[in-house]
Amino acid sequence: MMRTITKVVALFWLCLACTPGAGNRPAEQKNKPMLSKDAQKVRNYVKQEAVIAHRGSTYWAPEETEPAYRWARNIGADYLELDLQMTKDGFLVAFHDDDLTRTTNVATVFPERAQSPVKDFTLPELRSLDAGSWFTTRYPQRARDSFAGQPILTLQDVIMIAEGYRIKRLNGEPVKAMPGGEWTGLYEYEPDPADNGNRPGVYAETKVPGLEEALARELAELGWLITANPKVIKTTAGKVGIANTKGRFVLQSFIPESIEKLERLLPGLPKCLLLWYPAMQDSLEANYARAIAFAVRHNAHFIGPSIAGGPNNYGELSAPAMTAKIHAAGLYIHPYTFDTRAQLTAYKDRVEGVFTNRADLALQVYGRPGHKAAEILTGLGYE
Ligand code: G3P
Ligand code: CA
Repeated sequence: MMRTITKVVALFWLCLACTPGAGNRPAEQKNKPMLSKDAQKVRNYVKQEAVIAHRGSTYWAPEETEPAYRWARNIGADYLELDLQMTKDGFLVAFHDDDLTRTTNVATVFPERAQSPVKDFTLPELRSLDAGSWFTTRYPQRARDSFAGQPILTLQDVIMIAEGYRIKRLNGEPVKAMPGGEWTGLYEYEPDPADNGNRPGVYAETKVPGLEEALARELAELGWLITANPKVIKTTAGKVGIANTKGRFVLQSFIPESIEKLERLLPGLPKCLLLWYPAMQDSLEANYARAIAFAVRHNAHFIGPSIAGGPNNYGELSAPAMTAKIHAAGLYIHPYTFDTRAQLTAYKDRVEGVFTNRADLALQVYGRPGHKAAEILTGLGYE
């Protein structure tokens, strides 16, 4: 994925200074960008100290699979984070990398297409892959037999998990939904018997440009578009209830053109401009200022910089001087990606939320209850 981002984002930073909008703005706005009052209202739809479950979790379960997202919901994360890509047949799926080699058995199932990008596969083809077994090999200390065979998920799957459902299974196999008689790759759902009442929001990253229209359509169809008669999702006192608020769906992207498009197609939804260290390091201060000005201009309410240290090791974009600049513009900060208690504690008081693979630790650091991470997986039926 970083190959795509490198090209798109680097090009953007080179061109940003000469975009017509930038030159035509009044001098005072150029000098001191500030999020508008209306945009600040939208920013405030998202709760403070937001625990954003990065790919569900990369630590406890195979990333962006059903175990990872059911775990994140039940542990009490505020948001389920996912990376959106579009299949050859037009479905939005949750998948991080450009290709399928790292986290699936594509090399066995489609050897001749193993290096092909996700967009070259149909949804039924993607559903035929095992997106769980690699985790068991890579992390034997956290392996569970039931991770084997976990399918790649759609955006709809993740939203349904947030609403308290799970994929319906018969003898362990997902039940295919075939309303038109032919299987398009969709599954049936059922109320999750292990659901504990949490209703998190969804925090979706456009990993590639060009899927924004489909995303807008699907959100409306699923009743998750807050600006178009969203459905009421039943919540329980004392449980996470973000799925039934105006902050239920947050948009994020490293790709500035995608942020612009999202603002055009989905105005009034919270948005986060992600920053990637390698694309900015040649002129950090100047690029930071440009990013903030861009975010303000296009109503990206949050900036998502990287933190120092693993797992990304991109270099520090969340230093105090940088976070102060973001706050001065009325923007809030959701940095990525937190894997340790020390990281979470160090940043806790100067950011408004965290992308974390360890929602269990983040909840502890924020003083919130319910953190038996491994037991939650067992309770969900993952032995
Ligand atoms: O979206 C926040 C964070 O997920 C960005 O990094 O590469 O894991 O998508 P990445
Ligand atoms: Ca992401």
